Amino acid sequence: MSKQLILALSKGRILNETLPLLADAGITPVEDLGKSRKLLFDTNLPDVKLVIIRATDVPTYVQLGAADLGVAGKDVLLEHGAEGLYEPLDLEIARCKLMTAGMTGQLPARARRRVATKFVNVARRYYAEQGIQAEVIKLYGAMELAPIMNLADEIVDIVDTGNTLRANGMEPRELIAHISTRLVVNKASMTMKHDRIKPILARLESAIKQRQTQLAE
Ligand code: ATP
Ligand code: PRP
Repeated sequence: MSKQLILALSKGRILNETLPLLADAGITPVEDLGKSRKLLFDTNLPDVKLVIIRATDVPTYVQLGAADLGVAGKDVLLEHGAEGLYEPLDLEIARCKLMTAGMTGQLPARARRRVATKFVNVARRYYAEQGIQAEVIKLYGAMELAPIMNLADEIVDIVDTGNTLRANGMEPRELIAHISTRLVVNKASMTMKHDRIKPILARLESAIKQRQTQLAE
């Protein structure tokens, strides 16, 4: 196994919050990520490289050992499943909620509820646990449109301020899970590269604690 550590970062919204946290933990890319079309970057630490990939691909890279460490939303991890992964740290960024939602004031009329979401595994599990029959329809974005167009009775999606729901005449209903961004580690890497991974976990943990202390002051 290579001694090099690969850290997979989710691009998009999480990346903007991940980079300052990594910097606080002493890990910085050697070039400006925003100005490059590259996907693999060197960092100030000679044995640590970053890959910047789709959020939904991060657990796959880490589970299969193509990356040793990854940064991903708990929503993505719940949908992917935890096989082959440790989740040692809550990075406490990109906090939001995974919820069911529907048109304001309209309760689902169909006995077998139609649910549109990109989180199909989470949704199937959730409705089954509730004893509610649900037909889950996979969408890749703009879930809020589905009830408006009568494609679905409900959606399962991320809610933060609730503005997106409100703007589309919808309301949040049931909470499925509180979400934040997590650090995940490949199980084999955790054993084989423990000497290198341990200090990185410690640096991140102390950066998170320092932020909490600053917030509390
Ligand atoms: P992709 O483009 O790969 O489908 P995405 O559009 O779902 O990804 P982002 O919108 O960048 O990805 O969101 C990435 C992560 O940020 C989510 O997995 C979730 O954990 C978190 N997140 C998404 N929306 C919000 C929000 N409104 N507030 C806070 N965190 C959010
Ligand atoms: C996310 C999510 C919701 C919205 C919720 O979308 O899919 O649509 O944020 O946030 P709010 O409750 O504060 O409105 P995002 O803005 O990431 O765009 P996306 O649909 O491209 O993922």
